[in-house]
Amino acid sequence: MKYVIANLKMNFVTARECDQYLDALNQEWQKHKHSDAVKLIVCPSPLYTERFASKLPDGVLLGGQNAFWEPRGSFTGEISVLALQDAGVSAVVCGHSERRGYLSETNEQVGRKANAVIKNKMTAIVCIGETVEERDNEEMILVITEQITQAMENIAAEQLGNVVIAYEPRWAIGTDVTPSTQDIMQVRIMIQKILIKKYGAEQASKVAILYGGSVKASLMDEVCISADMAGVLVGRESLDSKELLKIVDKLL
Ligand code: PGA
Repeated sequence: MKYVIANLKMNFVTARECDQYLDALNQEWQKHKHSDAVKLIVCPSPLYTERFASKLPDGVLLGGQNAFWEPRGSFTGEISVLALQDAGVSAVVCGHSERRGYLSETNEQVGRKANAVIKNKMTAIVCIGETVEERDNEEMILVITEQITQAMENIAAEQLGNVVIAYEPRWAIGTDVTPSTQDIMQVRIMIQKILIKKYGAEQASKVAILYGGSVKASLMDEVCISADMAGVLVGRESLDSKELLKIVDKLL
């Protein structure tokens, strides 16, 4: 299974803007071939989840950008996994670097979120990745190992089919700078080794490992296909439905 996760972030912030995007996506979708082997998951701003649920093209899945670890209660401003699920969401991004950066979300919190998502039979898209300082100081292996180990601490082997890991070096997000194929491949192998150590090779192979950070269609060979990644997480290029579906096409 291959994945394209369209992270719309805090864009399309009025119903009108959402509808314009959805109309364009529906039109564009009809012009393209589709395959069940490639899942396109669109993650809108949370307030418009239901709007997207009713207007996304058939075959496109609905995602969430974040969720809280408790299902309900006194957690002002948070989003319940139950609410997302009720609205038709099937996958939720956990620990995106913008949340880690702007809101100081920790590995431990990311793990609790991922658990809440999986417990409710949705897919947790766990984001990991090093900062440029961590890379320069050769702390990358340590940082990524901790991110995965803590986020997956309470995830059992039989739940791995509901886990996707997105490797997103923080310095590559929103910058138009991307790592080399070789670098991405090395990190993929490292992630696989961490998973194999904990779960064994057979179970570990159930986790899809994606790349994210300045992805565009013209870079798909470099950052995804040649690096043998199971897909991509896309920010800016997902805001243009034409560009988004060009990326999907590359995986067909
Ligand atoms: P970008 O964002 O594609 O705009 O770099 C990627 C992301 O935030 O995951």
